[in-house]
Amino acid sequence: MKIHYIGKNNSILNKFIAEIRDQNIQKDALRFRRNIERIGEILSYEISKELNFFDKVVKTPLGEKVVKTPVKDIVLCSILRAGLPLHQGLLNYFDDAENAFISAFRHHPNNDSDFEIVVEYLASPEINNKTLLLADPMLATGQSLVTVYEAIKKTGTPKEIHIVAVIGAKSGITYIKDKFPANTHLWIAAIDNDLNEKGYIVPGLGDAGDLAFGTKL
Ligand code: URA
Repeated sequence: MKIHYIGKNNSILNKFIAEIRDQNIQKDALRFRRNIERIGEILSYEISKELNFFDKVVKTPLGEKVVKTPVKDIVLCSILRAGLPLHQGLLNYFDDAENAFISAFRHHPNNDSDFEIVVEYLASPEINNKTLLLADPMLATGQSLVTVYEAIKKTGTPKEIHIVAVIGAKSGITYIKDKFPANTHLWIAAIDNDLNEKGYIVPGLGDAGDLAFGTKL
């Protein structure tokens, strides 16, 4: 797996990361969602440099120009519900992508901190030989990503996989490294050192789904 740590270098990306972490700015859910979307847009631009391109002949009012254009074979898959703002940011740039949605939630069978990931819903096009973008804003333990990949790969074998995350924990990144094929890229905006006993990233930002869409039962 090739890791692209985009927030490592100074750029406007880090202002958006600072805002989504800030507990005062988090009170504005619209700004939280829009910042995640903006991060998705920046990561899209970086991902686009690794895609396959073809020569497209474009007719202008004054002539013709050959323009290198990305091949249209992207399937964009996001995990409900926290993944939706990141999905929108990616779709803003990869606007002709096909879309897949999958639900994954942490089930605590014993009401303690142990959990298993349960997938209940998958709506996906065929992914055989396509470029799969797998979006999960918070790469915490990595268990959701691996479970989701196991579910979606029943619909085909992608040509290559790009995992897109906003904040990741070091241990989660280590966990997923050997669970995906070699032709997998991880695009990540920020990396944190720790996970707490509930599997939340520390310092992270809290619960991305709740911050974007409100608390749930
Ligand atoms: N999901 C979140 O929303 N936050 C975390 O820190 C981990 C998983």
